[in-house]
Amino acid sequence: MYPERPAGIAFGGDYNPEQWPRETLDEDVALMREAGVNLVSLGIFSWALMEPEEGRYTFGWLDDVIDRLHEGGVAVDLATPTAAPPAWFVARHPDVLPVTKEGTRIGFGGRQSACSSAPAFRAATARLVRALGEHYRGHPAVVMWHVHNEYGAPLGECYCEHSVAAWRVWLRQTYRDIAALNDAWGATFWGQTYTDWSEIDAPRANHTVLNPAQRLDYARFSDGQHREHYALQRDILRELTPGIPVTTNFAGTVNCKSTDLWRWAREVDVIANDHYLKAERPDNHIDLAMSADLARSVAGGAPWMLMEHSAGAVNWQPRNLAKRPGELRRNSLAHVARGSDSVLFFQWRASRFGAEKFHSGLVPHAGTDSAQWREVVRLGGDLRALAGVRGGRVRAEVAIVWDWESYWALELDWRPSVDLTFRERMDAFYEALWREHVTVDFVHPSADISGYRVVVTPSSYLLTEAAAKNLHRYVEAGGNLLVSYFSGIVDEHDTLHPGAYPGALRELLGLSIEEFHPLREDETVELGGQESITARVWSERIRPAGAVTVRAFAGGPDAGHPAFTRHDLGAGTAWYLATAPVTAPVTGPVTGPVTGSAAGLRELLAQVLDHANVSRPRGLPDTLELVRRGGHVFLINHGDDPVTVEGVSGVSVFDGMRHDGAVTVAPGAVTVVVETVH
Ligand code: GLA
Repeated sequence: MYPERPAGIAFGGDYNPEQWPRETLDEDVALMREAGVNLVSLGIFSWALMEPEEGRYTFGWLDDVIDRLHEGGVAVDLATPTAAPPAWFVARHPDVLPVTKEGTRIGFGGRQSACSSAPAFRAATARLVRALGEHYRGHPAVVMWHVHNEYGAPLGECYCEHSVAAWRVWLRQTYRDIAALNDAWGATFWGQTYTDWSEIDAPRANHTVLNPAQRLDYARFSDGQHREHYALQRDILRELTPGIPVTTNFAGTVNCKSTDLWRWAREVDVIANDHYLKAERPDNHIDLAMSADLARSVAGGAPWMLMEHSAGAVNWQPRNLAKRPGELRRNSLAHVARGSDSVLFFQWRASRFGAEKFHSGLVPHAGTDSAQWREVVRLGGDLRALAGVRGGRVRAEVAIVWDWESYWALELDWRPSVDLTFRERMDAFYEALWREHVTVDFVHPSADISGYRVVVTPSSYLLTEAAAKNLHRYVEAGGNLLVSYFSGIVDEHDTLHPGAYPGALRELLGLSIEEFHPLREDETVELGGQESITARVWSERIRPAGAVTVRAFAGGPDAGHPAFTRHDLGAGTAWYLATAPVTAPVTGPVTGPVTGSAAGLRELLAQVLDHANVSRPRGLPDTLELVRRGGHVFLINHGDDPVTVEGVSGVSVFDGMRHDGAVTVAPGAVTVVVETVH
């Protein structure tokens, strides 16, 4: 359920008027009109003002703000302020303060300072949300609810007494029988057999490594506690204001490890995502694209909302680089290209005080006579012109398997190499596909993947038997599956699938692995072939059992043995890559055919894409981002040279220019063309 208003693409962001004198409100509304702002998120950290003492709710100040915004034509995404419990509440209920795994109870003075399992916090939440919902029920300005703020960031897991009590309940409900828990956790190892639920503690800090199955379950449990806290609020709001969508903003689909968004997606009416650039990374627009694609994917392909990003610098990275000219526009339109129907920011007006005073806002400290404000106003105009994009769908022929449970399991202690990390492989494959101009969806390994020409599993260390069967069926029915190393190793309890690695995928891949041979930190190995490919991190001894070697290791511990294989099965093919080819260079366009070791992963991927007839533009530099959404094609030039894109005809949205078969995009520019259908 997407909010009905505002029409077109929503534009605006977090608005914190309580930080400013009343006169500023009038100026803000006037500036919002100038920029074309049509939606703001209000009250996110305002609990102390909404309930100055227990049970006394004061919404008058907020009525004034909302009414004024409404008169100005700005709709409101009204927040429940539970991410900022007030000082009086914490002083009265010190037991709500979260406890770290080391046993430290955090103090008041930051935010997110209450544990989602704490009964007093849940009770106060329910009372406040009911009062807020009753007060604003039927208010014409309120078009959606913004519950809490970024669950899981930074408070992923809590180790307080309330958490432990809830954890034991969760375990009982999950396993029913303590013997089943002992079995699932492999409790006979290191003599950890439990005889009663009350003996089970949270996996708090320890001088050695903890039971991995216990840790994995604690990650599931903790995420579930936040979802319960969210659902408590959502259910009250749905009861009071049916028809008004309820959501919570995710702390960056790709950046918040502790939230399993496949599960969260079932609980929210619309996916809302926050994304911040890794400012110092020169190709940070690729991380942006990945975050946006993942947001669209957890939304099941439906339009989603970019709830926060920044107009300029953030203030929490080591070096907070300002955006370069045009970057705000490129970033914003890239999110829209990839399925967002909103461009919202943290925050409207930069703060003068507090922890985020050096964070950019739409209205900068320098005021409106600034390049940034002019970019903001221009963006508002662009988004008005793009109203027709709303609701448009992005179609992908390639999917990447992404499973948060695998993410959690893979990064537990004592794995074969510290270089095995979930994000490293995800980023590498995503980047290679991005540079090939292939738009991808992300999928859960148990999802219906039958519609994709190619499915890639860069990091499916944890793979249930059911998910492995799903992948098997996909290939048999004609799909192309590309599996990267250290996948299909363990089940949902971090227990190895029986027999040789990769237990869950041996049959599908037509091979087994006799031994892992992780490489030293700076060690590389070559893959033989016409053009040699350099790889790092991983090597292993493969024994083919039906699979055919496409490339063999030309050096290292597995010289002469398979490195890249294919296994034709049923109507499809399962490919396997046993190492980490060095990816394409971070900067510099690759215009011609990809050659040389730097483009190794792209080259191998291209082989699979070609085999599967995945359509993609050829000969474009990899600085040009091309995404189709509905009848629009977005062309974003991240490079320093103009780029001519062939095969695009239609009318340019921003300047009305007609293009017949080719569009030239200036350096740093964005062109959106309504394509002519031939
Ligand atoms: C997060 C929060 C915001 C703000 C921004 C700053 O996304 O949700 O309240 O702190 O970070 O970048």
